[in-house]
Amino acid sequence: MQQTILVTGATGTVGREVVKQLSMLDGIRVRAGVHSVIKGENLRRLPDVEVVEMEFTDPGSLHAAFTHADKVFLVTPFSEGQVEMARKLVDEAKKTGVKHIVKLSALGAGAKDAIQLCRWHREIERYIEQSGIPYTFLRAASFMQNFENYSAPTIKSEGKIYMPAGEGKVSYIDARDIAAVAIAVLTGDGHESKIYDLTGPEAISVGEVAATISLVTGKQVDFVDVPEEAAMQSMQQQEMPDWMIHALLELYGQQRAGNSDLVTNCVEELTGRKPHNFRQFVKEYKECFV
Ligand SMILES: NC(=O)c1ccc[n+]([C@@H]2O[C@H](COP(=O)([O-])OP(=O)(O)OC[C@H]3O[C@@H](n4cnc5c(N)ncnc54)[C@H](OP(=O)(O)O)[C@@H]3O)[C@@H](O)[C@H]2O)c1
Repeated sequence: MQQTILVTGATGTVGREVVKQLSMLDGIRVRAGVHSVIKGENLRRLPDVEVVEMEFTDPGSLHAAFTHADKVFLVTPFSEGQVEMARKLVDEAKKTGVKHIVKLSALGAGAKDAIQLCRWHREIERYIEQSGIPYTFLRAASFMQNFENYSAPTIKSEGKIYMPAGEGKVSYIDARDIAAVAIAVLTGDGHESKIYDLTGPEAISVGEVAATISLVTGKQVDFVDVPEEAAMQSMQQQEMPDWMIHALLELYGQQRAGNSDLVTNCVEELTGRKPHNFRQFVKEYKECFV
């Protein structure tokens, strides 16, 4: 029988890859939960994908999306309200009889001294555990696509990546590999109550990121290690809210201290193929950086 899988945050970095990869499989009806209908227009063109509007802060908007959904790939945005949003989603999943939640979480969510971002994810994980709905948590490292989403403008205009990241190495993962794991878990057996730490195949510093972009694109790109105080002032000038400045500085602090370099082989174990390395990522996203 055809099963229905709801993907929340379906226009986001990971969600849209999950929708794309699921839409290529037979026997699955994909329901793409979108916040902005305009951003979701492209998803309508994929086979067997229905698009539904969702506003995570409004429980009334969630019922249609969850009705007859067998499984959910749950993404909530980087927001100080994400725990509250996730609670509403899990409550609705419970009401409508969802049989499995696969949650996009963050590497380090289980650590005792977790940073704020990870503490939010752990709070959501706990809420899911307590709901009684079978679950799988995908705790992902920082995405390679962050360089496309956040660093591309200064790479293009100045050949510079500004970040208060020091020499710390990070096990960046390609969002397409997170999606591939999500597909394996959503369509396979034996993943209930499991937590998977997902990373790329190597840990690299932002200096090495810049060198790789230079090598692959032929355009000189340099890393500028911004002092924390200057990074804070720059974020304030961009009118970022305080919670976001605090969360990002904490994240960079962790990277600088060398605490983001864990490498696992979960992607290969779960998908049967090696995760993309940063060089492959840049080759395939080259046009974002030149
Ligand atoms: N970036 C990283 O390196 C990293 C690493 C590990 C874990 N994570 C976690 O991954 C999650 C973010 O995933 P992502 O980067 O794939 O997402 P993303 O690209 O930031 O996209 C977020 C998605 O959520 C939707 N959304 C935002 N507010 C909404 C609302 N109020 N109601 C309904 N939908 C809403 C957005 O739609 P609109 O655009 O239309 O608003 C978008 O589709 C966060 O929980 C983050 O902590 C991120």
